[in-house]
Amino acid sequence: MPPYNAPTVKRTIKQVEIAGRRVLMRADLNVPLDDGTIADDQRIRAAHGSMQHVLDAGGRLVVMSHLGRPGGLQDPELGLAPVASRLSELLDRPVPLPGDMPVCDAAADAVSAMADGDVVLLQNLRFDAREQAGDEGFAAALAEMGDIYCNEAFGAAHRADASLVALPRAMGDRPRVSGLLLAHELRCLREAFSDPTRPFIAVLGGSKVFDKLGVIEQLVGRADCVLVGGAMAYTFLAASGIDIGDSIVETDRLQETRAILESAADRGTRILLPQDHVTAASIDDHSSIETCAGAIGAGRVGLDIGPASATAFSAELAAAATIVWNGPMGMFEVPPFDAGTAAVADAVAEATARGATTIVGGGDSAAALAQRGLSDAVTHLSTGGGACLAMLQGVSLPGVEVLDDALGDNG
Ligand code: 3PG
Repeated sequence: MPPYNAPTVKRTIKQVEIAGRRVLMRADLNVPLDDGTIADDQRIRAAHGSMQHVLDAGGRLVVMSHLGRPGGLQDPELGLAPVASRLSELLDRPVPLPGDMPVCDAAADAVSAMADGDVVLLQNLRFDAREQAGDEGFAAALAEMGDIYCNEAFGAAHRADASLVALPRAMGDRPRVSGLLLAHELRCLREAFSDPTRPFIAVLGGSKVFDKLGVIEQLVGRADCVLVGGAMAYTFLAASGIDIGDSIVETDRLQETRAILESAADRGTRILLPQDHVTAASIDDHSSIETCAGAIGAGRVGLDIGPASATAFSAELAAAATIVWNGPMGMFEVPPFDAGTAAVADAVAEATARGATTIVGGGDSAAALAQRGLSDAVTHLSTGGGACLAMLQGVSLPGVEVLDDALGDNG
């Protein structure tokens, strides 16, 4: 088995002189919004520690983030005003959001007028198409607003956007450090994935096989067992020759999925698929909910793992020493299709209580835990979904690679 490729330990915001200096902090404040209101502020609260540290140390804090995927356009629904107001409450001081764009005269003026202990939030980075294009000119304009660069955006660390890669490069000799949350996430995931205590079980769900095939490929030969649920399971079932009715399937991934199933069988990793399903007439018509074992009939859509699968998955998790969970087992937002995900959430919490290491990533899995009041019942609830999967896969995180290496003790 190849060694796990963990990111190097990086210099943190606690290892740099801050007083009187402008800290450009790239956070991941990409929070779910419900009609303009923040539905879950976990990411804002998680980044708060580094921000407070900068202010307590007499620094000037310039915060940057993206919100959603506006695709380089100024989408009024994706402005950072709700985030500015939540930050202002947490930091107990005004958090101005100058101008309509992250790089503009109003932002530059607001930053040059800052005093020690002040905060400025730049507008949604993705309102400017140059952010996702990794543009060096955009990065250079951002770099003019800071003396220290801090990456506190674990959730976006798998992206190579300008604020994550070109910007720290554009800082030249100025420090580029990791925030405390980023350091904590990397430490927890490195410890769990480098040499996991066995049995090591991964639970993967969600809608897209495409997102997770690379991860499952890496887990083959490394994990003892992979439990597959959610809509992605139907592609796995179809690849195994099982009828899935009208369930979602990624036909262009069938061959790759089949190859993974074969290699898992050869390399000692069990891949467990759901053996029964909760189905409906269609994704929108829930008038005729049925549970079926084995094949799914024509005209039916699978929307959750069935009770026998939930019991089988829970029994596997009851014996695990390390668990990583990413993605729901069904359409958990709509009862009764939440039962499979709820069973996994309960089993993960029970495993934590008896001493297993449990790592949960991804907004949906986090929401499912929160629904059951179990957010604190896991070893580590990651603020990253895609970034957590990238870590699990052992691929390099571009936003981390570019930071300064640690100087001695990484407090
Ligand atoms: C996330 O929510 O996973 C991160 O904020 C990254 O967002 P993205 O997938 O739109 O790049």
